[in-house]
Amino acid sequence: MNIALLGFGVVGGGVYELCRKRTDLSLRRVLVRSDKPEIASIATRSFDDILSDPSIDTVVEVMGGIHPAKEYVCAALNAGKHVVTANKALIAACYDELIALARKNGVALRCTAAVGGGIPWLINLERVKRLDSLSQVGGIMNGTTNFIMDAMHAAPVSFADILKKAQELGYAEADPSADIDGDDIRRKLAISANIAFDTALSETEIPTFGIRTVTDGDIASFQRRGFVCKLIATALRCEDGVCAFVEPTLVSRQEPEAAVPANYNLITYTADAIGRQSFFGQGAGRFPTAANVVQDCLDVLGGKTAFYSVPSAAAKLCADAVAHPYYVRTAVMDPWLTSITADHWEGGVITSAVPVGQMLRWAKERLAADPTCFIAGIR
Ligand SMILES: NC(=O)c1ccc[n+]([C@@H]2O[C@H](COP(=O)([O-])OP(=O)(O)OC[C@H]3O[C@@H](n4cnc5c(N)ncnc54)[C@H](OP(=O)(O)O)[C@@H]3O)[C@@H](O)[C@H]2O)c1
Repeated sequence: MNIALLGFGVVGGGVYELCRKRTDLSLRRVLVRSDKPEIASIATRSFDDILSDPSIDTVVEVMGGIHPAKEYVCAALNAGKHVVTANKALIAACYDELIALARKNGVALRCTAAVGGGIPWLINLERVKRLDSLSQVGGIMNGTTNFIMDAMHAAPVSFADILKKAQELGYAEADPSADIDGDDIRRKLAISANIAFDTALSETEIPTFGIRTVTDGDIASFQRRGFVCKLIATALRCEDGVCAFVEPTLVSRQEPEAAVPANYNLITYTADAIGRQSFFGQGAGRFPTAANVVQDCLDVLGGKTAFYSVPSAAAKLCADAVAHPYYVRTAVMDPWLTSITADHWEGGVITSAVPVGQMLRWAKERLAADPTCFIAGIR
């Protein structure tokens, strides 16, 4: 296989190292936008050098972002080149369009590293579907937020202080919004749900509440009652479509999610015959992620050109199909919240069971009026 790499950062550098050790994967060109002395002999700043080179059969996109990654991926597919990518933003936004283009051109499009970094999650999701019917997917799919929540349970520490530490350790970006506001995990949920249920959910419509406003007081209150709070993504089949949402979730100490340490992920599917299976591991990092990228290349080399799924019609997103109680902490009560209040904890109230979509819409509006508001679903 003759490969061109787009991007030479954390993941691209790992792919380069792993390919160097193999005789069956030859890394011919690397698209860069700044000088990379260690690969000067194969670096180019022109994507056309890659596109017009008939000896390159596979493009590995690890640049990130939607543009120009999408234009490059589409051009590569149209030129009859296989594409392997780790780019969750691109795949979450354009999965159905890119799969259609790959099918039209008779080439492969693989993206195993886009969800769960180094965990072989999508590959097993694809595999289980051959024999079984999936009913639910999701879990802890973002290492940064799990690191923060785990540390806040281990010792009293403010959200701001532990976020700063996560940034110093390289677990959180300088701008941590995509992680702590739930955009990153929502993207991974959209990709997983689309593959699990052969559909095309619109990622941005999935109701989401992040962990930006959690306090050490909230965590102490949860722990006194035997709960652990985690940012959890959920998508399940329902009568009219797919119910999908992302929210801080209180799980009992005995649940597997409660034990997930540091920046690890725990991603789970439930299928009719085999029941529940979970995948635990590093959801990010140079070599774990690069390993999944290179595994995709080896699958393509081995003739695997089938797709994880072929999306049919866009599924209706029914976030109100599931209801459960919530912990809500807000500076000011309002009549709706008062009408559903069933109990009081220090600092917050516990509601009766509320449809998830309804609560997440309310919480989003509430943040505009009370930026300190925090909610958590109770499982
Ligand atoms: N890091 C992880 O653990 C991880 C895990 C799972 C998935 N991913 C996904 O993998 C992808 C890459 O992530 P990363 O962590 O490797 O990012 P990164 O370290 O920021 O690397 C991106 C690389 O792409 C280059 N690049 C960006 N735009 C370019 C352009 N227009 N032309 C040429 N080169 C360009 C950058 O160049 P400069 O060096 O000049 O900035 C950089 O070398 C992303 O889609 C990410 O979501 C990453």
